[in-house]
Amino acid sequence: MHTAVEEAVRLLRAGDVVALPTETVYGLAADALNPAAVAKIFEAKGRPSYDPLIVHIADKKQLDTVADVPEAIQKTVIQLIERFWPGPLTLVLPKKACVPDSVTAGLPSVAVRVSSNPIFKRIIQGLEKPIAAPSANRFGAISPTSANAVFAELDGRIPLIVDGGACMHGLESTIIKIEPGSPKPMITVLRPGPITVEDLKLYGKVQVANRSVVDEATEAPGQLASHYAPRTPLRLLSKPSDFTPEEGKRYALMSYRGEEKDGYLDLADFEEIMVLSPGNGKLPEAAVRFFYILRTLDQLGVDEIIAEPMFEHGMGIAMMDRLRRAAMKF
Ligand code: TXA
Ligand code: MG
Repeated sequence: MHTAVEEAVRLLRAGDVVALPTETVYGLAADALNPAAVAKIFEAKGRPSYDPLIVHIADKKQLDTVADVPEAIQKTVIQLIERFWPGPLTLVLPKKACVPDSVTAGLPSVAVRVSSNPIFKRIIQGLEKPIAAPSANRFGAISPTSANAVFAELDGRIPLIVDGGACMHGLESTIIKIEPGSPKPMITVLRPGPITVEDLKLYGKVQVANRSVVDEATEAPGQLASHYAPRTPLRLLSKPSDFTPEEGKRYALMSYRGEEKDGYLDLADFEEIMVLSPGNGKLPEAAVRFFYILRTLDQLGVDEIIAEPMFEHGMGIAMMDRLRRAAMKF
């Protein structure tokens, strides 16, 4: 039988792009070692060439095929990949020469991870090559966490979407870089995600890069501009009293836990209220629904989406990061 997995492998071998499920968000995949195939990712997404791609490998044993692990951080890298791979942790390391410059946007480093999604795994094993895959959305738009969402973003621009159901985490991987340090190595979070600061603290001193001052050329390029953005303007409130509805305007609310006591539900005659994690509020549950809810509210045609803030710990750090970026105009 000709399965979707076989068809995906066939297309990737032929130098084409395909959308694949991962445990974080759907990715737009191509053979990472084929510059012509990689160019198709940038074209389909409308992504500027200065924004580097994440390289996925089939398992941790392949790390040294795409990256060099400096001696000074080797112990920490091994500890981290033993603990978190396969999974939503991406390491930025010096790149091997085989990785095309178009993948890394000319940087001397490469961002690498191993996906735990079983369908992704079968496809990358079938291809026997590393896969470059950014999130499968148009550049700057909301990341897709279902095959339907990929269809809405890229229909007509790519030959295949492999439907693996909803993504388990719902937010893009945590991206880190590691530097030697004493007594502990320094772990810098370049993009917060499902592996939290608390998770990483066991392995070193952790700092979260301030993504508004990150040096575009060397750190996390492409992370600066407005990103994860709905077409509808989005406003992130820091407290309910910051908001007064304007006469005649239509609003939708993205609420964290839908609790009256938080004070956001009554701010306006909201056309729609969607709750990320009904009840007590659980950050990982909110994360799973986050991009889906943002996408759904964006389709209502309201004048503004109002977002409640979340607690800035655990996965709340990653969601607040996405909300701040989604609220940026340019
Ligand atoms: O969960 C994920 O990471 C998903 C799935 C598909 O794996 N991928 C993803 O890719 O989110 P993307 O393209 O949306 O985000 C990749 C980001 C870039 O925007 C850039 O900030 C960072 O990864 N990046 C890639 N290579 C880098 C490098 N060499 N140095 C620093 N940052 C890098
Ligand atoms: Mg993305």
